[in-house]
Amino acid sequence: MDSNTLFHERYRLEKFLGSGTYSEVWLAEDEITGGTKVALKIFATENGLDDYGLNMFAHEFSLVSNINDPYILRPQHYDVCNRRPYLVLPYCKDGSVKRKTGRLEEKEAWNIIADVAHGLSVLHSMTPPIIHQDIKPDNIMVSDAGHYMITDFGVSTHLNSTLRRSVGDKYSHGGTRAYMAPERFSRHKTSVMASDIYSLGATLYDLLSGEPPFGEEGGLLQKSGADIPELEGNFSSELKVLLEKCLAFNSWERPSTDDLIQKSNEMKKKSIGGVSRKTEFFSGSDNDMEDNTDTSGNNNHLTPIYYVSLSIIGIVLGVILGFVL
Ligand SMILES: Nc1ncnc2c1ncn2[C@@H]1O[C@H](COP(=O)(O)OP(=O)(O)OP(=O)(O)O)[C@@H](O)[C@H]1O
Ligand SMILES: [Mg+2]
Repeated sequence: MDSNTLFHERYRLEKFLGSGTYSEVWLAEDEITGGTKVALKIFATENGLDDYGLNMFAHEFSLVSNINDPYILRPQHYDVCNRRPYLVLPYCKDGSVKRKTGRLEEKEAWNIIADVAHGLSVLHSMTPPIIHQDIKPDNIMVSDAGHYMITDFGVSTHLNSTLRRSVGDKYSHGGTRAYMAPERFSRHKTSVMASDIYSLGATLYDLLSGEPPFGEEGGLLQKSGADIPELEGNFSSELKVLLEKCLAFNSWERPSTDDLIQKSNEMKKKSIGGVSRKTEFFSGSDNDMEDNTDTSGNNNHLTPIYYVSLSIIGIVLGVILGFVL
């Protein structure tokens, strides 16, 4: 496909953003809504899918279409053009966290852990649970408000094999293995919720150090007995220990999403973590992730000292007024 093409008589392709294993992603303008910028993720661009593949796609989209959560980048729309299924997503101008690889700071790491763990807890609590299976830096997008959102969820192993059969491995980067848990390399390719926790740990390790913990081989190396490498660098012991737990060989030894959210909140309270995010996003929500400082560093909460100062000023003014009268 070329830029400037009008895709499906509606979306003007503007810029190629990249290709995934079975898809191309384009920045496009929606001409029906007056040029709104969207990201189009178009699958099987060469030959499209057969009826079986298209039905499976539509079914899987229907399972995730009702998710409404700020930490999940949900497709706005699903359609098919010339047998090529495509998703319309909000365009994230800041891209994914991949561009932070090797230079992520600890406070942002805690923010990513909290946001992704929250998004995963939503997916994992669905009926039936959705296991993401592909958490990696490319699939964690940065919102315009500066928080983090999971994308590319809800593609089951079954749909993946259908895509592989139809599309082949033309676009395969073979890179995702780097974030895969050891159990994903077993003969039956088991995928449990804790496999996503492992991938989140491997993702953070990569973003902080510049390399995934076991190189391109991922958890496969652990299966052959490799130890978890220590995260080098000037990071807190809490962060190092948490990542090591996420990368535990045995899935049941890894922390839960709740553990991750709780730990990141603790770290934020200790003010190692990020208090530099916009707060309107959290206000009024029932989660306990609210921080009290906005991007300009203003404190939103009135402290007792503030009230005491006001009272003293009032008394002094009263005395002066009484004296004058
Ligand atoms: N909504 C979006 N806004 C901006 N950029 C996006 C959006 N969705 C995807 N991208 C970018 O487009 C590129 C291709 O994404 P895609 O999801 O196809 O590949 P991937 O995540 O690398 O691989 P995979 O197929 O394994 O998911 C990536 O660089 C991704 O960050
Ligand atoms: Mg992706």
